[in-house]
Amino acid sequence: LTQGRTLRYLWYSKGTVIGSLQFGYNTGVINAPQNIIESFYNETWSSRFSEPISQGTLTGLWSLSVAIFSVGGMFGSSSVGFFVNRFGRKNSMLMANVLVFIAAAFMGFSKLAASFEMLIIGRFIVGLYSGLSTGFVPIYVEEISPTSLRGALGTLHQLGVVIGILMAQIFGMESIMGNASLWPLLLAFTLLPAVLQCVLLPLCPESPRYLLINRNEESKARSILVKLRGTDNVAEDMQEMKEESQQMMREKTVTIPELFRSPVYRQPIFVAVMMQLSQQLSGINAVFYYSTRIFERAGVSQPVYATIGAGVVNTAFTVVSLFVVERVGRRPLHLTGLMGMAVSAVLLTVAMALLDQLRWMSYISIVAIFSFVAFFEIGPGPIPWFIVAELFSQGPRPAAIAVAGFSNWSANFLVGMCFPYVEQVCGPYVFVIFTILLIGFFTFTYFKVPETKGLTFDEISAGFRRSAGQGADKYSAPEEFNTLRGDDPDL
Ligand SMILES: *[C@@H]1O[C@H](CO)[C@@H](O)[C@H](O)[C@H]1NC(C)=O
Repeated sequence: LTQGRTLRYLWYSKGTVIGSLQFGYNTGVINAPQNIIESFYNETWSSRFSEPISQGTLTGLWSLSVAIFSVGGMFGSSSVGFFVNRFGRKNSMLMANVLVFIAAAFMGFSKLAASFEMLIIGRFIVGLYSGLSTGFVPIYVEEISPTSLRGALGTLHQLGVVIGILMAQIFGMESIMGNASLWPLLLAFTLLPAVLQCVLLPLCPESPRYLLINRNEESKARSILVKLRGTDNVAEDMQEMKEESQQMMREKTVTIPELFRSPVYRQPIFVAVMMQLSQQLSGINAVFYYSTRIFERAGVSQPVYATIGAGVVNTAFTVVSLFVVERVGRRPLHLTGLMGMAVSAVLLTVAMALLDQLRWMSYISIVAIFSFVAFFEIGPGPIPWFIVAELFSQGPRPAAIAVAGFSNWSANFLVGMCFPYVEQVCGPYVFVIFTILLIGFFTFTYFKVPETKGLTFDEISAGFRRSAGQGADKYSAPEEFNTLRGDDPDL
């Protein structure tokens, strides 16, 4: 029965999860062909200014091409709230595809036009799209899912992302599209999923939560719920949404400044932001953007294959996390993931430092990066994306997601832009920085992040309200929430 239900939600989510796939694809696509596109930059520069490009300028231009994606993401994710409330969840996702068409044109024709500026603009626009869809998809999937499947389906977004990354890594092989003549096609390929999404999305239902709460269309919301849940008995779901709707009228829509001023939201928004930072500052995108270069430095003879290997490990462990997240809970998974990543980063540092004495250390660095990625997908990968939506009810949720998204993308930009420079300075010790950050985030999660597994939005915010009332000093999230869970007969 549970399997059947899960499949039904998978069916309804398929069109939306393409948005996650696009984000993953454009994250991974510049990794393998870095050397080839860099020589295009070099040639373009030489023919334009009749002098070869300096190493510094090339590093700068390339980091910008990688990281401007996150600047687009920042703007996109900040506008999510506006779009979902004004146009609805489904139509927003549909409209955003216009950005992909424009971006694909810019990137695809950049070589023909001998313009790296076009590539950079295209990366910015596809970043805009990705920022929007990393907001749209989790909101939509959460809103159509029943409480019991929320975590597992929330992980779907992450699954879409990693499949996108893996696709990009495979297509980026020299024999496929990662070569001097076909790389523009590799970047423009993002067009096809957009077309597919335009076909599939109209078959998905609008979020019943949006219809009931934002548009007050009760009968429409009910009939969609009946279709989604596969039963006429949707009274409980309707009741929950109505209660939320009433609560919203009392609490009205919360703006971003209010989120930080109100003592009720201050703590959850702080937790939400830190969760996002723990994801990005873990150093995962140093791997997804630059792993081919990292493997090259670590003495691996076929760096592109090692990068694809990392993509496969990444996908496999996302599937593992899909199955365990509802059983084990968010906190233990996030903690395990952070600690495992810290240990892997230490291993990688040791391997890179000893490379000159021991050639076989290059194999250890492959193992270290694989386990780094695996532990990422156990916790820090999927969990921050949906815990934000779980920490807030309808009123403050769009603002909270915008803030969390902005922090996530800013940290993403920081890593993408700075990693090549920091690596030049620190050499093999670059991952020590991530180790320190990871241990910091582990400590924070241990003391401050509550368990949200199996709780309704109301119960979660009640937990925060109670702890805010007690005062920050006495606040102890785990006990607070365990007691709450113990009271619930469904768990
Ligand atoms: C740019 O290309 C020229 C000629 O192929 C080469 O000698 C030079 O090293 C390249 N510059 C950089 C920074 O890679």
